[in-house]
Amino acid sequence: MGLRLGDTAPNFTADTTEGEIDFHQWLGDGWGVLMSHPADFTPVCTTELGAVGKLKEEFAKRNAKAIVISVDSVEDHKAWSADIGDAMGCAPNFPIIGDTERKVAELYGMIHPNEGDTSPVRTVFLIDPNKKIRTMLTYPKSVGRNFSEVLRTIDALQLTDNHKISTPSDWQDGDDVVILPSLSEDEAKQQFPDGWNELKPYLRMTKQPNR
Ligand code: BEZ
Repeated sequence: MGLRLGDTAPNFTADTTEGEIDFHQWLGDGWGVLMSHPADFTPVCTTELGAVGKLKEEFAKRNAKAIVISVDSVEDHKAWSADIGDAMGCAPNFPIIGDTERKVAELYGMIHPNEGDTSPVRTVFLIDPNKKIRTMLTYPKSVGRNFSEVLRTIDALQLTDNHKISTPSDWQDGDDVVILPSLSEDEAKQQFPDGWNELKPYLRMTKQPNR
């Protein structure tokens, strides 16, 4: 059975471009964004790692940090990082794991052998401060990821952890949110004194609470 949402993110030690890490220690008490890519010195991956580097402050605002993995060596990652800086205007400012033995890639189910070859596909694991896996995204090798969606999902997880709400389809920070159907009318009045728009008895839209 593979990893499922709510599972504790498996711990590992690994060599990275920023030295040896113990993953749980590296996570500390913040959010982690663990991402695999198929291979170094490849075009889509180059755009992706440049994009992730540019989002360092956005991750930091959310008490989150990125870590990237492929089955190439740390030496290759370091040589490729210079190319990423040249091509994308931002060299990686996060650790890249050298997983030449595929230990981490296998542990997290990042290799999908029917997707071309045995290099990892493009995965994203969002891990909360309790080390629980809260989101898993999986993209094919041919499709570069949308990192705005990664930030949006972290925002939604942090909001829904702190309030009795869910986020609706296509929600963006600041949009109206959904009151949990499990909340009674009286409980909802206490939690959301400014009221709500009842589209259906089970679909009550209200202003985003932390605004
Ligand atoms: C790329 O990053 O462009 C790529 C890497 C592996 C397979 C396909 C595309």
